[in-house]
Amino acid sequence: MTDTITIRRPDDWHVHLRDGAMLEAVAPFTARQFARAIIMPNLSPPVTTAASAAAYRDRIMAALPEGTDFTPLMTCYLTDDADADDIAAGHAAGIFTAAKLYPANATTNSAHGVTDVAHIMPVLERMQDIGMPLLVHGEVTDGDIDIFDREAVFIERVLKQLIAALPDLKIVFEHITTEQAVQFVDSCGPNIAATITPHHLHINRNAMFAGGIRPHAYCLPVAKREQHRLALRKAATSGSPKYFLGTDSAPHEIHAKLSACGCAGIFNAPYALESYAAVFEEEGALDRLEAFASEHGPNFYGLPLNEAMVSLERSNIHVPDDMESAGSRLVPFHAGSDLHWRIL
Ligand code: NCD
Ligand code: ZN
Repeated sequence: MTDTITIRRPDDWHVHLRDGAMLEAVAPFTARQFARAIIMPNLSPPVTTAASAAAYRDRIMAALPEGTDFTPLMTCYLTDDADADDIAAGHAAGIFTAAKLYPANATTNSAHGVTDVAHIMPVLERMQDIGMPLLVHGEVTDGDIDIFDREAVFIERVLKQLIAALPDLKIVFEHITTEQAVQFVDSCGPNIAATITPHHLHINRNAMFAGGIRPHAYCLPVAKREQHRLALRKAATSGSPKYFLGTDSAPHEIHAKLSACGCAGIFNAPYALESYAAVFEEEGALDRLEAFASEHGPNFYGLPLNEAMVSLERSNIHVPDDMESAGSRLVPFHAGSDLHWRIL
C-alpha cells in the first residue's frame, strides 16, 4: 500500500476567493494547496474590466502572507455589453487569463450575466482568434426546466450551437455534474475540457436531504443522481487530458447558508487536495492524481507545469465542524468527518 504520494504542486482551475474580510479568511487555504488558481469574477459588482481585475489581484496578494508562492489568474465576467477590444487588451496585458460566461441569474451574483449568447458573439469570436479560453457555467436558467436537468439542457440548447459557430474557441465546461456532460466533453475535440469539483465526486443529491435538509451540501450546479457521480469519478480518474481540477470552493458565512433561502456554495478549500486524493484512492487511480491535479489544466491553458513538488502522507485528519472567519463561521466540506491523506 502506498503511504506517500509526491506530485507536482497542483493548481485550482476554478475558485471563489470573495473580497474584504472573507478574502483574507479564505485565500490562505487556497494558496497553501495550490500554486495558481483561476479566480472567479462574481464579486458584487462583478469584475468586468482589466483595471478592476488588476486591483482585485492586488487585494488577493495583500491578503496572503508576504512571500507566499501563489499566482492568481484573473478572469473577466462577461455581460451583454462586454467589449471585445477591452477584453483582448486585458488578455494581451497578462491581466485576464480567461473570461467567464454566467447565464444571467444562474447562480450567486450572476444577475449581470449574459441573457443570450448572441449578444456576446463578437467577444467570443475575438477570444477564439487570440486563443483566450471561455469558462462556462453550463446551466440554462429557464424556470420551466427542472433544476436537475439544467446542465443537460444547456448542452443541447446552448453549448452545441456555440461550438458549431466557433469550432476553435477553447472552452472549459466548468464544474460538470452529469454523465451527459462527460459524454459530450468526450465527444468534442481537444479545445473542449471540463473541471470537476471534489464535492461532485463525493456526494450525490441525497446528501442534501440526509435525515433533514442539509444546506452545506447545496451548491450550483446542484449534485445529481448517483449514476452521474459515478460518471464523474470515471472521467476524473480516466487519465483523459480533458478533465482537470477545479474546486469551485464557494464560501458563504454560516448565517447565509442556514437561512430560509440559503446560498449555493460548498467551501472545500481547506482540504481540497486531500478530498480529491480520497476519490483517486477509492478508484484505484492514485497514480493519475498528478495528471488531473497538476498537468491537464496547465496543458489546456498553455501554461508551464509547476516545478515545485508537494507530498501527501497517509494519515488521519479530522475536519472541524466549522472554522472562524472574520467574525462569522464557515463550514468546510467534510465537516466533522475524517480524511485519510494529509499534505506534508
Ligand atoms: C458559487 C458562488 O457562491 O459564488 N456558488 C456555487 O454554488 N458554486 C457560484 C457558482 O460558481 O455557481
Ligand atoms: Zn463557481
